[in-house]
Amino acid sequence: MTARRKRTAVLISGRGSNMRALVERARDPSYPAEIALVLSNRPDAAGLRFAVEAKIACAVTDHKLYASREEFERSMQILLELHRIELICLAGFMRMLTPWFVRQWQRRLLNIHPALLPAYRGLDTHARALADGVKIHGCTVHFVVPAMDEGPIIAQAAVAVLDSDTPESLAARVLAEEHAIYPAALACVAEGHLRIQGNRVLSSSCSAGLPAPLRFPFSD
Ligand code: GRF
Repeated sequence: MTARRKRTAVLISGRGSNMRALVERARDPSYPAEIALVLSNRPDAAGLRFAVEAKIACAVTDHKLYASREEFERSMQILLELHRIELICLAGFMRMLTPWFVRQWQRRLLNIHPALLPAYRGLDTHARALADGVKIHGCTVHFVVPAMDEGPIIAQAAVAVLDSDTPESLAARVLAEEHAIYPAALACVAEGHLRIQGNRVLSSSCSAGLPAPLRFPFSD
């Protein structure tokens, strides 16, 4: 008997290309997670259109309508519970989450960041990497903890920085890697085979693929 797929919510604020990559990968019935809800804090998030067309349940919790961060998050929490959500993927979700919310979802809340953490936390990662002259840049999927862009790392992918790169061209190559590692990382978490030791995520029995030289876990 195949295991039940984990009901997953994807939280977005804008374009939603990572959400799209997750939805497309989860169309495979053997994928261990299903995208059961797309939740945006912005009514005008471009990604919502794709989610509606893909017939995924969508909701908007507009943070501007709430007096406090706590009220905003409690409203999201109710929606997540109503949809019986088990895992959350933050995908370009541009709101800081309180320790209260993060604790509700400990080890069940993932984020993707466009840099090789712990380098380049925060914004404008590609421009900062170019300004520093690094030769390798990339992206990271990690569990969320109550500190920005920290938490045990599940997956990373690296790209070479080219002499001709601009922040935009570098962002585009990193984004292609984001679309590969986020579905692979979610699969590992949904399968429940990960072991966490301190900050280290050990995933030897993860079926999402084998380590490749510059991408872990590897996915095609
Ligand atoms: C991605 O670069 C992601 O790493 C960062 O925000 C961006 C979101 O892009 N957290 P998209 O909305 O998934 O297209």
